[in-house]
Amino acid sequence: MSEQSHGAESGKASTVEDNNSLTVTDNRTGKTYNIEIKDDTVRAMDFRQIKVNDDDFGLMTYDPGYTNTASCRSAITYIDGEKGILQHRGIPIEELCEKSSYLEVAYLLNFGHLPNEKELGEWVYQITHHTYVHENIKSFMQGFRHDAHPMGMLLASVGALSTFYPEAKDIDDEWQRWVSTIRLIAKMPTLAAFAYRHSLGLPYVYPDNDLSYPGNYLSMLFKMAEPKYEPDPRLEKALDTLFILHADHEQNCSAAAVRVVGSSRVDPYSAIAAGVAGLYGPLHGGANVDVLRMLQKIGKVENIPDFLEQVKQRKELLYGFGHRVYKNYDPRARIIRSHVDEVLEATGKQSPWLDIAIELEKQALDDEYFTSRKLYPNVDFYSGIIYEALGIPTDAFTVMFAIPRTSGWIAQWNEMLHDPELKIARPRQIYTGERDKEYTPMSER
Ligand code: ACO
Repeated sequence: MSEQSHGAESGKASTVEDNNSLTVTDNRTGKTYNIEIKDDTVRAMDFRQIKVNDDDFGLMTYDPGYTNTASCRSAITYIDGEKGILQHRGIPIEELCEKSSYLEVAYLLNFGHLPNEKELGEWVYQITHHTYVHENIKSFMQGFRHDAHPMGMLLASVGALSTFYPEAKDIDDEWQRWVSTIRLIAKMPTLAAFAYRHSLGLPYVYPDNDLSYPGNYLSMLFKMAEPKYEPDPRLEKALDTLFILHADHEQNCSAAAVRVVGSSRVDPYSAIAAGVAGLYGPLHGGANVDVLRMLQKIGKVENIPDFLEQVKQRKELLYGFGHRVYKNYDPRARIIRSHVDEVLEATGKQSPWLDIAIELEKQALDDEYFTSRKLYPNVDFYSGIIYEALGIPTDAFTVMFAIPRTSGWIAQWNEMLHDPELKIARPRQIYTGERDKEYTPMSER
């Protein structure tokens, strides 16, 4: 950034040398500054030079919720929210869902390219052979109350992994980063399934190395007395597709949490635990729970107009609709919708909520209130219906999201550590409180 004119009478820049710049005039001083534009972005720190006088701290930018602030450079996931495009490492999500497995996508996110046969074989082998957790983790989880929320259990147990692998702290060691990546992707389904079984009072089921990643998860959830659980291939495939769809979504709340916490150079298990916490919230991954509760509350198709009226009066939120980035149909919601019937057929179940969801979507998309705000179904709108058909209790829906998102979180974490511009995340604030107040002794309060 360069200051162009000091107190020029017109208050305007005399020359703008570079077309890739922004000319800013500070009307308080009449000074004009040239700010570099790179990648359609200006740097917030370039504004710090803009001061009223030498004692002035300098201009800051204010962006609650980071609605227009890029916090990093990333080559993992591309989203065009206006057009409803989602690509991982440049490959459209539709194609990945059709042609790849979840573990291939997890590899793609973490290593930047689709694995060849040998690489995939090794990757799947490693993930499969790291699914067991230390027996003390099991005892640790058994200590939770019988009705503990599965996301709370998952959050705590992922954080606890850091105490089982203290060497993971050495985040400059490539091997430690690699083995932590494997362990996190491998163990997350085990922890999630233990949390689910705990909530039902059932014994935990150990991983089965003969099964696929989604097949093993189904086994750990549902295996009872049978010697070997045999997953229905249609459910296995549907679950794998759901895992692909939830694998990464660039700088969302939970990925940003992983990066913010990880920027302190803490171990990866603690950083990923921050991601699990971010995902727990109802405005993020927790929305799939609220969608089902909303559909249950609506109860029948005839009640939809009244419900939408309540939403417009801001007494209700239309869960599963709206997105910070998508101002068009979320491509993930479209793909999930296309799998709902298949899952219902495989499970032989009828969802009482599907008709309500379809009609709710139709009426909302016909309504100016929602279209003018560009509110469309997001990834959470239909996923709950599938989870319910799979027999997953509502409280465990969000752990279904956390399992696949782990590959995205760890890819974001690894990428961050290689970023030469990495700094500890430490935002500024606009202080609104009192200053230099007189201290009141206890006796006078
Ligand atoms: N229902 C009703 N109105 C909505 C909704 C909704 N689901 N979403 C947004 N709006 C309205 C807002 O009230 C606002 O209206 P206004 O301009 O008249 O005040 C306008 O649309 C813009 O919405 P914002 O809240 O400013 O959008 P933001 O980007 O901050 O929020 C969010 C995005 C949190 C996802 C929001 O759309 C929401 O709360 N949706 C419901 C929860 C949900 O489904 N979350 C899952 C998102 S996907 C995921 O995280 C995996």
